Amino acid sequence: MNDTQHGGQVYQFAQTQNNSTEQTLKTVLDFSASINPIQPQIHWPKLTRAAQAQLIHYPDTEQRALTHAIAKRFSLNAQQVTLTNGISSAILQLFSELKPDTTLLFTPIYSEYQRAAHKHSTHIIESTQWNAPLPTSLTQNSVVVLVNPSTPEGIFTPPQTLEPLLKQIKQHNCWLLVDESFLPFIGFQANLSLRPQLNQQPKWMVLQSLTKYYACPGIRIGALFAAPETLTPFTWPAWPISVLDEQFMLHALNDTQHDQNTHCFLQSETKPFIKALKQSPFIAHIYPSQANFILAKTHVKAAWLAEQLKAHRILIRDCHSFGLGENHVRIAIKSNPQNQQLITALKVLSLKQ
Ligand SMILES: Cc1ncc(COP(=O)(O)O)c(C=O)c1O
Repeated sequence: MNDTQHGGQVYQFAQTQNNSTEQTLKTVLDFSASINPIQPQIHWPKLTRAAQAQLIHYPDTEQRALTHAIAKRFSLNAQQVTLTNGISSAILQLFSELKPDTTLLFTPIYSEYQRAAHKHSTHIIESTQWNAPLPTSLTQNSVVVLVNPSTPEGIFTPPQTLEPLLKQIKQHNCWLLVDESFLPFIGFQANLSLRPQLNQQPKWMVLQSLTKYYACPGIRIGALFAAPETLTPFTWPAWPISVLDEQFMLHALNDTQHDQNTHCFLQSETKPFIKALKQSPFIAHIYPSQANFILAKTHVKAAWLAEQLKAHRILIRDCHSFGLGENHVRIAIKSNPQNQQLITALKVLSLKQ
């Protein structure tokens, strides 16, 4: 796999440091993966006790406890939820099942969609215009992929605004995959999501990563939402999620303060962070974002800036592989002290120029 296609390359970074990997993981400031800096409250002794008792058995093949907890959190019926070991692996799995005639990707897009489409789709069309007429070549066995909120821009398009696109998708009767991985940062209200429409649209799916919002990319866990019958013909691994993953997620979902804590953090951090970033001589423009990350245009080459920041143990995402040229970076919004460290590092670098 080409590592430059993904943020969060902390292990590769650790290889370049004189410290142990463990030490580097503790000290690196990773702005390149858009992970919530607010961690859900986990009762670790309780989690460990439950996991120890379960470890000697295979997990529940139906993952009942977690499926129900996720269904509840996202206002769905449990039959609409399929758990996967992360959305990245679900993307490959879905494409290998669907084997689309044509895949229409609205770009820039998370690179795993391109990888899966190149492997399993006969034709690929990339378009930046989700509001343009759909290509007439879309057959019933074609797939349209939309990421909403988008990455790396962080633009959220409400379902009612997507209506012209959704109408065309219905006319073509093709598959629709909508990746709402970053939507929890905006909210869980049903009207923000395509979830309420899934029961009427058996060829639509929502892909929901849980690792960003619940701050746990180290465990591989994600959920697919669809009408109850949509995913049953597909072949899934028997035990996609380990009991440890399941226990972690159950605890995370139990933290009733997590939404409020995340919301408050984003409310207080976003504006001052953007203001401070704009003052850096390296930053030419900050694009509007409603998500927990920021796309910035840089005056200098993004690759150069990313490399220089590594000396400060800071990782940012060069957006070259998104097809945005050499002058765009994506920066996650992290906690106040962490954001301050990035701002300070940018100042130090600019003084050296
Ligand atoms: C839009 C989008 N969807 C899905 C994923 C992958 O999520 P997971 O951690 O569940 O594999 C990412 C990761 O960066 C992403 O940006």
